[in-house]
Parts: sequence; structure tokens; C-alpha cells
Amino acid sequence: MTNKILKIGVFTSGGDAPGMNAAIRAVVRTCAYYKLECYGIFRGYEGMIEGDITPLDARSVGNILQRGGTILKSARSEEFKTVEGRKKAHENLKKAGIDALVAIGGDGTFTGLHKFFQEFAIPSVCIPGTIDNDLAGTDYTIGYDTATNTAVEAIDKIRDTALSHNRLFFIEVMGRNSGYIAINSGIAGGAGAIIIPEEKVSFEDFYKSLNAGEDSAKTSNLVVVAEGSKIGDAHTLAKKVAERSSYFDIKVTVLGHLQRGGAPTYFDRVLASRMGVAAVEGLLHGKNDAMVGIKDNVMVYNVFDSIMTRRHEIDEESLRIARILSI
Ligand code: F6P
Repeated sequence: MTNKILKIGVFTSGGDAPGMNAAIRAVVRTCAYYKLECYGIFRGYEGMIEGDITPLDARSVGNILQRGGTILKSARSEEFKTVEGRKKAHENLKKAGIDALVAIGGDGTFTGLHKFFQEFAIPSVCIPGTIDNDLAGTDYTIGYDTATNTAVEAIDKIRDTALSHNRLFFIEVMGRNSGYIAINSGIAGGAGAIIIPEEKVSFEDFYKSLNAGEDSAKTSNLVVVAEGSKIGDAHTLAKKVAERSSYFDIKVTVLGHLQRGGAPTYFDRVLASRMGVAAVEGLLHGKNDAMVGIKDNVMVYNVFDSIMTRRHEIDEESLRIARILSI
């Protein structure tokens, strides 16, 4: 153990993700295990600026492991992007005696923490919590597995009604600029085509691969569209296909924020638990300005510079499988 850390502040920031509560619980209980004090900072960087900070003990995080959302609430803070905002936040941390931070969130959270670390040298570790699975340095982010399962459940239900009416559905899933939820919910849900921002396809290529006409011998079809699609969102694509073919009655479902809620899967609970323990132990072992990750089922620490210039690529094999099976 190298750093003399006594009080850790934990917060969630950016879009909430199922499993964030499991991560908060793990951080608080690991602090209790190592006899450290732990403070919850509410509403992310906003709460840090306003001094919305409360002590948390092992018992105060009981019965949250299985709940979606975040008990600490979350926010995207504009003020923290300013030097003045960060100064206020630092003052409040000093007042509370907090000498290290664990942030649970996505790339915006980590970027804010990096800046804060550079200015005030407060030891800090980030836990990747976002349904988008878009961070380099980790095979999985907390919430991605649950959100993808939610999308698959929805796709299965839409398939039932699509089959009953010979319809073609365009189903839009979240992920911002990442196609992870789309590619894997599409494969798991048996989509006839999957549109992701990472794959360069034109509308023409997509239309050909969709096989939307009578000769496809399909009695219904499902297209999963990542919200970051470069060739148009689900509504636009549906409209363009309808202009070319009247074989199917075409419908659109945008899954939206329901992908962000719900009880975390076992996978996300265990991932969050492991990452929460790793974050506190990392701080105690001198890790700074780093993000915990899971690589080949092993916990790793990534320093900011090593991951923020890269993106989490979708492997070619997934794309190939999706192409073969959508025939
Ligand atoms: O980053 C998580 C995410 O759910 C994205 O998939 C989506 O693009 C975005 O957040 C939606 O943000 P908001 O909840 O602010 O509308």
C-alpha cells in the first residue's frame, strides 16, 4: 500500500446504467473492509460543486445490488467543464476531508476526472458504467449486458407481432456512436439486417442485403438500427425502404430509455462488484488517473492517455457472423 488514503468519495455521472448501484455498494463495502471512510457525492459533478455529500457505511448500501438506476443520482454537468466549477468542487472535497475519488460513468466522466486530477492531483479511479460499451481498455462496461438483454427481449416480442402480420420492423437501439448493443442484440434476436455506425455501408448496400421483396421468401423481417447509424435513423430508413418496396407493411419501434432501466443481469452485478473492489484497492496501491477495466476476465487499470484516444472496436468476427446468419 503506497498512498495514505483515508476518505474516499464515490459518485455516478453521465447516463445511468444498470449495475451502477452494485458498483456503489462494492466501493462502499470495500472501504468499510479496509477501514476507510466513504462519502457519497450526489448528482455527479453537480453535487460536488454544490457540496451535496453524505457519509455512507456498509449498511447504507443494503438492498441496492439488484436495483437499476443509481441511488446517488446522476447528471451531466456543464459547470464542471469550467475552471471555476472545478475549483468549487475541490473546495467542497477539502471541506469534507475527501482525499480520493471513485467515479462511475462513461468517457465524459473520465475526461472530467482526468482534468480534475491534473489540476488538483487528487487520486482518482474511474469505473466504466455506461450501456454503450464504447470505452477502450475494457471488454465490457457496466450496464451493457443488461441493456442488450433488454433489447433482445423487446426484439423477441416484436418478432411475435411481426410474424403475425407479415411486417418488416425497424427497431432502433441506443448506444450513441457505438454499435455494440445493435450488433449483439441483432445477432441474438435474429435480425435480417443490422446497421451500426462502425460499418461503412451505403443505403444501396443495405437495401440489397435486406432482401425486402417477395423473392426473399421471408414472411416478416426485423432490422436493428443503432441510433448512431450513418445512413439514417430507423424512421428515415423505414421511409426510404417503403418508397422502394410495398411487399412488407413497415413499422418502426424506437426502444429508447427503457434500455437504461431494470434490474442488472448477474453479469453486470458481478462485473460491478469486481470493479468496485478493484477501484478501491487500486487507489490503495497508488493507482491514479486510471480506469478499471476487464480484459480476458482479469481486472486491469488503464491510464487516461492509453485509452481516451482510442475507441472500443467491434470485432470483425461479429460482423461476419451477423452477415452469414441474416441470409
Ligand atoms: O450514454 C448512454 C446513453 O443512453 C446513450 O446510449 C444515448 O445516446 C444517451 O445516453 C441518451 O442520453 P440522455 O439520457 O441524456 O437522453
